[in-house]
Amino acid sequence: MSRAEAPGGSEPEGWNLRYQGNEPVFTTDPSDLLGPETGGLVPGRALDLGSGEGRNALWLAQRGWRVTAVDFSDVGVAKARRLAEGLGVEVDWVVADLRSYHPPEDTFDVVIQSFVHLPANERGAILRRASAALRPGGSILVVGYDVSHLDHGAPGGPSDPALLLTVDGLVADLAGLEIERAERRRVPVEGDEEDTGRFAVDVVVRARRVTPFRAARPAGPWLAGPGA
Ligand SMILES: C[S@@+](CC[C@H](N)C(=O)[O-])C[C@H]1O[C@@H](n2cnc3c(N)ncnc32)[C@H](O)[C@@H]1O
Repeated sequence: MSRAEAPGGSEPEGWNLRYQGNEPVFTTDPSDLLGPETGGLVPGRALDLGSGEGRNALWLAQRGWRVTAVDFSDVGVAKARRLAEGLGVEVDWVVADLRSYHPPEDTFDVVIQSFVHLPANERGAILRRASAALRPGGSILVVGYDVSHLDHGAPGGPSDPALLLTVDGLVADLAGLEIERAERRRVPVEGDEEDTGRFAVDVVVRARRVTPFRAARPAGPWLAGPGA
């Protein structure tokens, strides 16, 4: 996605303003991770959390995946829906806030969450539900800006470090899954005509559900009941 855009905030109204108009706000190219991460899989069911204008959901749907795409911006979802109609592909578009959305459990072969930046407690709860939504053998792919991205001056992404990602934080969010890939990577900033040396720093984590999923308890006090 274009990295020179300011984010839309933590409520749908901000994103609806961002997505106004017919032109795409972000690139319509899918994440460069999708091909390598899903290209070798037999298409099944996929869930795209925070799907935006639909670039990743559409790419998967065009390759035979049955995709559920969730975003709280009805303007963004409407845009994605128009793109899908133009391409002649079906996607199950859902307007919902991920903070209260409960995907069906044991259902998806692939879950993706791309550049959705939320406070750690909200992100953790969303990713626990996303983990439980995987079928055994299914994988989740999470990508977004690393907290060190702020130090490098490349435009784009939230300016609040509390909304940025770390490898360790995402690995903790995905406790109960088998971590297959967990890394930071430097990505040249798109749109630069010369090599300015500017880059974004992303976190990429892929994890697989290998057993019946048992989410780790969220941090915080709880009372042990009988048999706990
Ligand atoms: C930077 S865009 C990324 C869109 C898409 N994943 C991509 O990679 O192109 C972030 C998206 O997350 C959505 N979003 C942010 N917070 C959300 C929430 N709590 N519930 C649902 N969607 C949310 C926004 O509406 C926006 O479309």
